[in-house]
Amino acid sequence: MKQILQKMDVDNKKVIVRCDFNVPIKNNAILDDYKIIASLDTINYLIEHNAKIILLSHLGKIKKEEDKLNNSLELVAKRLNELLNTKVIFSKQTRHPLLTEKINQLNPREVILLENTRFEDVPNNLESGCNEELSKYWASLADIYVNDAFGSSHRRHASTYGIAKYIPSCIGLLIQKELKVLKENILNPDHPFTIIMGGAKIDDKISLMNKLLPKCDYMLLTGGIANTCLKILKFNVGKSISSNDENILINVRDLLVDYRSKILLPFDVIVSNTYNDDYINQKDVNEINSNEEIKDIGPKTITNYKEIIEKSNTIFVNGTAGVYEDNRFANGTKEVLSTLSNSNAKVIIGGGDSASSARLFGYADKFFYISTGGGATLDYIIYEKLDALDIIPDEEDVL
Ligand code: 3PG
Repeated sequence: MKQILQKMDVDNKKVIVRCDFNVPIKNNAILDDYKIIASLDTINYLIEHNAKIILLSHLGKIKKEEDKLNNSLELVAKRLNELLNTKVIFSKQTRHPLLTEKINQLNPREVILLENTRFEDVPNNLESGCNEELSKYWASLADIYVNDAFGSSHRRHASTYGIAKYIPSCIGLLIQKELKVLKENILNPDHPFTIIMGGAKIDDKISLMNKLLPKCDYMLLTGGIANTCLKILKFNVGKSISSNDENILINVRDLLVDYRSKILLPFDVIVSNTYNDDYINQKDVNEINSNEEIKDIGPKTITNYKEIIEKSNTIFVNGTAGVYEDNRFANGTKEVLSTLSNSNAKVIIGGGDSASSARLFGYADKFFYISTGGGATLDYIIYEKLDALDIIPDEEDVL
């Protein structure tokens, strides 16, 4: 176990905390503040324990100067001000002598949020390239480093990894909770253990399938990975999203042979037509034409998947059943969420689209756990570790 925040003496100390405030923002408004809410336990713990608190986070990807315009953390500072019982100062600087001075003048229980760490990526990729000087500068601002950015802990950046080279470090309350849930329930599940996997991305599902198929009892596939399997089984999937990568196709073919009884595929689907926006049809998977595209699962598949969900004790969800952002193709995702919310199983929703769809359709409080990490959750399940946490000492190694 990594060194934890509760073992550190933070009283009157400057504590720099890497959070994951990478929230969706549109038209100058935060669309979903769940990652901010998830960070509050650690921030409130530090306030209660009399620390001087410096918050860091990235927001979006910053590749060029213009990207900075829509990716400021100022809105996050405003939201934190509403959520915390203490004033949150926002610094437009990520690095500046005046910022250093301001931080040196912080009083216990005061909080300052620095601008998006990835603003340091233009022009020289300093944050994402884990630049030594930048890491040292941020470390020089504080006495203790806390990593609580679960969603970013698969990345070795200056703010997620570099700082911890120079000052005592630990993991915060959110990371502790995320690791515990994944370790106890996904790496050591109660059986029957079911994986529901879907969405548009395919590449990042392959390692997860390799890791989880030996462990699980059922894997219910939808989306791009299901289409890829159907294609391998010689079904015509028309214009549907599927992999053309030879290595992936060979790997998935082998998995289909080795684990055929565990892997369930759609019987029927909802298709659109590339030539006609108004065309929507329900079809069995052996009836798809070359100009059709699979957008959701059909009613027979939903009934079949419901039966498996109802007899499972642990369920991990990664990816949605259909293109849920379009109401015409959201039925499969909604039906699966509804069945999951009524089941007695421990349901763990991976981050990303599965988590967004659960919140969008009103299931935010209905599951055992919804993770704040997308890529980080997958990495932890696959490798049983996270790259950024390698630098945090193990508890037993701390004197
Ligand atoms: C996420 O939203 O998955 C995390 O914040 C990581 O974001 P990134 O993929 O831009 O590093």
